[in-house]
Parts: sequence; structure tokens; C-alpha cells
Amino acid sequence: MQLDDVAKNYGALARFYDLGDRWLTRPFARIGRLRVASVGRLSLREGDSVLDIGCGTGLNLPLLVEAVGPTGRVVGLDYSEGMLREARRRVESNGWGNVELVHGDAALLEGVGGPFDAAMSTWALGIVDDLPSALERAVDVLKPRGRLAILDFRSTQAERGLRRRLVDPVLHKVLLWSGIDTAEDLDNERFQKRWEDGKRYLREALVDVEEESNVGGTGFLLWGTKP
Ligand SMILES: C[S@@+](CC[C@H](N)C(=O)[O-])C[C@H]1O[C@@H](n2cnc3c(N)ncnc32)[C@H](O)[C@@H]1O
Repeated sequence: MQLDDVAKNYGALARFYDLGDRWLTRPFARIGRLRVASVGRLSLREGDSVLDIGCGTGLNLPLLVEAVGPTGRVVGLDYSEGMLREARRRVESNGWGNVELVHGDAALLEGVGGPFDAAMSTWALGIVDDLPSALERAVDVLKPRGRLAILDFRSTQAERGLRRRLVDPVLHKVLLWSGIDTAEDLDNERFQKRWEDGKRYLREALVDVEEESNVGGTGFLLWGTKP
């Protein structure tokens, strides 16, 4: 998604994002379990530093803050000011003094500091316009032996069956209408190719890379360690 669209679409969506998470995605797609699994793959310890790329409204922050404790450091980066405003609200209402929120492009990761013990991204990198640069930067900001976990979709539609014929067309309309995705983001061939190339790079840049599939085969969680 082009940066202008990220700012516009997610700015408009920000106020409703957590409601959608609570009433739609979490109950039906068991999204919460996938967030916990992603943070778990980072093997965080007390005092660690961790970066959440495309942190949105900060739905991963409670898990990250708990994992690194008060002596750790959590940084969330997002390009949407609207999403960051919601994340800021979450940080303030919880009184987390060790969380920083940074406005910026995942393809540059400027202003986040580092290097980090770990970095993660949930359902954000797949729509980052310059995915190759974003993946390179995600590895760059890690310390040696730093861990990276990425949760995303591997395709924008199921391979076959009822889900492909009935559910996916409706879902795509909702995703377009809400601004979560643009038509380009939902182009399955393009999307799959981006991740094929992206994962090839990650398998070269990291060691101990593992991947598991989720969301009925259309999603993945990939994790690995910087040499
Ligand atoms: C579907 S939301 C996911 C938010 C959050 N990670 C979660 O799990 O709820 C995608 C997020 O990616 C952000 N995003 C998209 N492109 C970006 C970019 N180039 N740089 C930084 N953030 C970006 C959007 O602003 C949005 O907050």
C-alpha cells in the first residue's frame, strides 16, 4: 500500500480497529492466539529490547511489555498517525513508561534506535509498499543472535472450496471498503510473489528459520535468528 493510502485509510479506520478486533477477527479467526504465538517465538527475557513494526493501535504491546518487564524497552513503529494515536492512548492508560511510539515507514525504520534483541510484525509487512527494504531493515536493526517473528498472510484467498467461492469475495469487499487493503494488496499473484521473494531473503539472512501455517493455510508465522 502506498504511504499516502496508509495514512488516509488507517487514519479513518483507527477509531474502529480495536472494535473490529474484539468483535470480528478475535472470536472468528482466533487472532489473539496467533499474537501470543508470535511473541512466544521471540523468546523474550526480562530487560530485552523489542521492536513492533507496523504496530497499529498497539494490540501486541501488552504481551511485549509483560515479556520484557519494567527494565525492558518496547518500541512500536507505524506510518499511520491515527493508529499511533490509539496506541498512545493504550500506553498512557496502562502507565507503561518503557514503551516508545515512532511515526515512520517500515521500509526505512528511522528513529527507532536499536539494535534490538528482537523484532516482530503482525499483519503489517504484507502491505508495506517496499517489502524487500522493510525486511532488510528488520534484520539490520537486530543485534547478533536477535530474533525476528513475522505473522502475515501467504495468499489473499483460499486455494479452493467454499471459502474461496463464498467467503473470500465477501471478505475482499469488506477489506476494500474499510481501507484495510487496496485492490493492489489483494492481487493474489502479486501478494504471493512478494512473500516468496521475501521469505527467500529471510532464509538467507537468518539462521534457524522455521515457519508454520495458520488461518486455514492462508496465513503464516515465520521466525528466525540473526547469525
Ligand atoms: C492490518 S494493520 C496491523 C496492525 C497491528 N500490527 C496488528 O496486529 O493489529 C497494518 C498496519 O500496518 C501499518 N503500515 C502499513 N504500511 C506501513 C509502512 N510502510 N510503514 C509503517 N507502517 C505501515 C498500517 O498503518 C497499519 O497500522
